[in-house]
Amino acid sequence: MIPAGLIGYGYWGPNLLRNLQLSGRFEVKGVAELERERLDLARRAAPGARCYADALELIERPDIAALVIASPVATHYPLARAALERGKHVLIEKPMCRLAEECQELIALAAARRLALMVDHTFLFTGAVQKLKELCSSGALGKVSYYDSLRVNLGLFQPDVNVLWDLAPHDFSILDFVLGAKPVHVEATGHCHVNSNLPDIAYVTLHCAGGLIAHFNLSWMSPAKVRRVAIGGDRQMVVWDDLDRDEKIRIYDSGIRLHAPDERFAIVPGYRIGDIHSPRIPNTEALAGVVAHFADVIEGRAKPIMGGEHGLRVVRMLEAAQAALDASLARVRGLS
Ligand SMILES: NC(=O)c1ccc[n+]([C@@H]2O[C@H](COP(=O)([O-])OP(=O)(O)OC[C@H]3O[C@@H](n4cnc5c(N)ncnc54)[C@H](O)[C@@H]3O)[C@@H](O)[C@H]2O)c1
Repeated sequence: MIPAGLIGYGYWGPNLLRNLQLSGRFEVKGVAELERERLDLARRAAPGARCYADALELIERPDIAALVIASPVATHYPLARAALERGKHVLIEKPMCRLAEECQELIALAAARRLALMVDHTFLFTGAVQKLKELCSSGALGKVSYYDSLRVNLGLFQPDVNVLWDLAPHDFSILDFVLGAKPVHVEATGHCHVNSNLPDIAYVTLHCAGGLIAHFNLSWMSPAKVRRVAIGGDRQMVVWDDLDRDEKIRIYDSGIRLHAPDERFAIVPGYRIGDIHSPRIPNTEALAGVVAHFADVIEGRAKPIMGGEHGLRVVRMLEAAQAALDASLARVRGLS
């Protein structure tokens, strides 16, 4: 068993603790949490672990080999850095850091010390995303031309990040993992309804090499939770509804028939409408896969599918989208 510690026991930390405990690969020896009430809850959930109000005391422990960081984004870099400097393997919650330079420093540090550095882009371990990767990699969809995501719900308003940094890491990491998307240009706009400096709705459009276009509709202002992604290829199209328990993925054998050169004057394209197929998707908890993968990477049995470089690419996309969003908000403010 790998002796491990957890930092941050807020909303997501308990899910990580439970999966670490159930994995049979990690022994959770310590939990660090700033808030006393949350720390008391952690004490009850992990009776064998020592609890700390100061994360550095946990990081300093020589008997701990791996640390999982589930505190707010601004704390990821200093905590991960301190952990790597003390020779610990690190799993950081998404997004990896606030700045690309911080990610680069952590990657270099982990490489120099031969330590595992992973980012918890949990969706990559869902059966649905694994299926999407299989469909795209096998050529079943043909040439993929678009990725369209609707990721909306009511809140949860985050203290230190806006809706872009909260929700877009999922889409950016899926685009990177499933399609190997190479962004060339990003456009973004949005609005701050609740807090004047914190966009709570963002619309992002990403143009990628090879003609792929991606669009995300991200919101903390929607009364209903929706998690729906459509991916269109020239052979088949797929719709992934993550909240549909029975038919998460539907593959449409449909498409647009392009005109032959001698028919180019025709205005109406041909439509091919075929069968709809819904493959069975295992309903296992993705975090269990993340935790098992972290153990495999630490033990040298696997290469990370969401290592530091993946986390860095996601943060670069977030930075570019944030710059576009800032410019758009400033333009709109100037007009009103
Ligand atoms: N992978 C996913 O699907 C997923 C889902 C939700 C959240 N997250 C990520 O998890 C991280 C935490 O999010 P959350 O929603 O749990 O936030 P949260 O605010 O509910 O919890 C964070 C906890 O960290 C504690 N904390 C802050 N600074 C600390 C420090 N220096 N040492 C110890 N504890 C500290 C806070 O007191 C708080 O209890 C974020 O990076 C978020 O993006 C990931």
